[in-house]
This record gives sequence, structure tokens and C-alpha cells, in this order.
Amino acid sequence: VTDTFWAAPESEIKVGRDILDDLLPPRLARSNTAVLTQPGQARQVADGIAGALGGAVFEVPDRDAAKDLTVVGSIYDWLFDLNLGRSDTIVGVGGGALTDLAGFVAATWLRGVESVLVPTTLLGAVDASIGGKTGINRQGKNLVGAFWHPSRVVVDLDILDALPVALKREGSAEIIKAGYIADLAIVEEYRRFGPEARLEVVVPRAVAVKASIVAGDFRESGDRAFLNLGHTIGHAVEILAPMAHGPAVAVGMVAAAAISEHRYGFDRSDLVAVVRGAGLPVGAPGLDRHECLRLISRDKKRAGEAVRMVLLEAPGRPVLENVTGEEIDLALSAVQVKS
Ligand SMILES: NC(=O)c1ccc[n+]([C@@H]2O[C@H](COP(=O)([O-])OP(=O)(O)OC[C@H]3O[C@@H](n4cnc5c(N)ncnc54)[C@H](O)[C@@H]3O)[C@@H](O)[C@H]2O)c1
Repeated sequence: VTDTFWAAPESEIKVGRDILDDLLPPRLARSNTAVLTQPGQARQVADGIAGALGGAVFEVPDRDAAKDLTVVGSIYDWLFDLNLGRSDTIVGVGGGALTDLAGFVAATWLRGVESVLVPTTLLGAVDASIGGKTGINRQGKNLVGAFWHPSRVVVDLDILDALPVALKREGSAEIIKAGYIADLAIVEEYRRFGPEARLEVVVPRAVAVKASIVAGDFRESGDRAFLNLGHTIGHAVEILAPMAHGPAVAVGMVAAAAISEHRYGFDRSDLVAVVRGAGLPVGAPGLDRHECLRLISRDKKRAGEAVRMVLLEAPGRPVLENVTGEEIDLALSAVQVKS
């Protein structure tokens, strides 16, 4: 069974099993395919794809080391040698770092060529590969980039089922986030099965949440901000702990839930149970509160003086609100960041 979603009229997302054979959208003039990938598991998938398509493969460094201008430059040189033209396609196979990079190269080569993304991590599948935000790091993370939708994203559930536990946990935080924003069936699946939540249930649902929010708000002027649930305080935790992105977002969601409880009577203990049940952390003891506050107020989502955060009036009912210093204090105490 293959589910199909659209993040834009020109951006199709397919989720299923045995779906790599039918990878490229039909295109008469295509004569060449360039496959970008990262080392390890992704490279194996990429080699299979390149073999089937008759395309060439370029392997970049692992993780965020790939999101670098020198790497981008060497890919441009390779595309020039390949003679990759306007009607050709760049295929990106790997985690979020690789799909961010591949999307950026596609957005800029010849002022934009078609990209097709094959996310091989859970985070990539439900978040990074969907929505057309591409980018590389310079001075800070993702400071250089472009909005450029992939014409197709292909999410192979067999690849995701085989992921190591840590990478599953990493992605599950963003899936649970999607659940609390817009689809309580996701929350229910994690409540029942914890880390054993079925990917064929939660991945299409999380993809649907992200795709539909992006479809309504490509450039983040409105509802797209809801996807930042857990990210305001999560970013500070990610930097200071340091902690991987997914677990840090989990802590950030608990913090946002504390303010939501204070304001709207949201049931924080239920969210804590779901997050903990999925094997994710619900606190970050030992962090310096002063440093946390500094990073939170520096967060790029702030508007003027006030810190803006996504809160939950109830499960499935996100709101974007200014929060007070006292509320941030309360949130930090809720995740055991002591003064
Ligand atoms: N564009 C967006 O909207 C968006 C959203 C969220 C995150 N991101 C970006 O995504 C990146 C993080 O995503 P990520 O964690 O997927 O990154 P990643 O690409 O660094 O992958 C993490 C690790 O998993 C490995 N890996 C990939 N596929 C695997 C597989 N099938 N089995 C085993 N290991 C595998 C990779 O080699 C890497 O070591 C960051 O650069 C972040 O900025 C972008």
C-alpha cells in the first residue's frame, strides 16, 4: 500500500514499501540523473538506485559536515562534468543533512533543477525532506538556503523499520510533535506501544500533518510556525546539554506543556507519560538556567522583546503566543533546569 500526499501542487510525497523502483516522476526531456548521498546505509540505497537509473553517485561527508560551501562547490564541479542540464534530476538519498544539501544544490544549479528525495532516517522522512526548506551552514546553522520543493519524496518504510534504535527515537520526537499539533491518533499509537509504535501507522500520519501545514503556508507566515512546538526551549537544550535534536525537542515539548497547563489547563502529565513512554527524555537536569535564558531570548522565532512559543490549548489545538519571563521560569523548572 502506498500513501500519497502533496506539500504543494508540484511536490508529491509517497510513503510505502517496495516503492524505490518507481522513483522518478515522468519527464520526457530527462536524459541524466545525479545521485547525491552520504556514507553508510544511505550509500547502499543510493548505489541500488543509481544502478537502476543508470545515474552517477557522489558521496559527501556524513552528517552536517556535508552542509558546507566547499562541499557544494565540489558538487557543482561534478555536475558540470556530468553535463547535468535543465531537464535533468538530482536525487538525494540520506538523512536530513543530505536532503537539505541536495535540495540546496538542486535549487541553485542552473537556477534550479528538479530534485527527488529519498530520506533514509525517520527525522528526514517526517520532517527534513518535506516542505522545501533547503540549506547549508555558514557561521550558524542553516543560515544559507532557499525554498525549493522536491518534485517527489519517496519514503520507504522498509528502510525506516531497519533503523537503529537511536535514530528511531530521534525521529519519534518529531512524530509525537506532529501528533500533538494535529493528529491525536499518532499520540494514541505511542501511548499504546511506546517505542514499538508501528511506523506504517505513524509515518504516513506525520507526513500528512507536515505536508498539509506546508501546503497552506509555504513561507512560514502563519500555521507553519506550529511545527516549532518544543523547539524554542528545545534549541537551548540541544546546544547546552548537548543533546541530539529529537530528545531536545521532547524536553522542549514538556516545557511548552507546562506553560500550556498553567494558561489553559492542558494535561501536562499525559504528554509527559507519552514522551517518556517513547523512550525520550522529559527533563534536562544540570543545565545552567542563565545560559538557557540567554539562548531562548536569542532564538530567531522571537518577535521584538517577547519570546513567542507554540503552546497547546488542548491536544491537537496549537496556538502561537508571547510568553512572559515568569512563564519561561515555570517551563524551565518543569524540565528540571534549576536556578
Ligand atoms: N529542511 C528542514 O525542514 C529540516 C527539518 C529538520 C531537520 N533538518 C536538518 O536535518 C539534519 C538532521 O537530520 P538527520 O538526523 O536525518 O541527519 P543526518 O543526515 O546527519 O543523519 C544522521 C545519521 O544517520 C545516518 N543514516 C542515514 N540513513 C541511515 C540508515 N538508513 N541507517 C542507519 N544510519 C543512517 C547518517 O549517515 C548520519 O550519520 C540537520 O542538518 C537539520 O538541520 C532540516
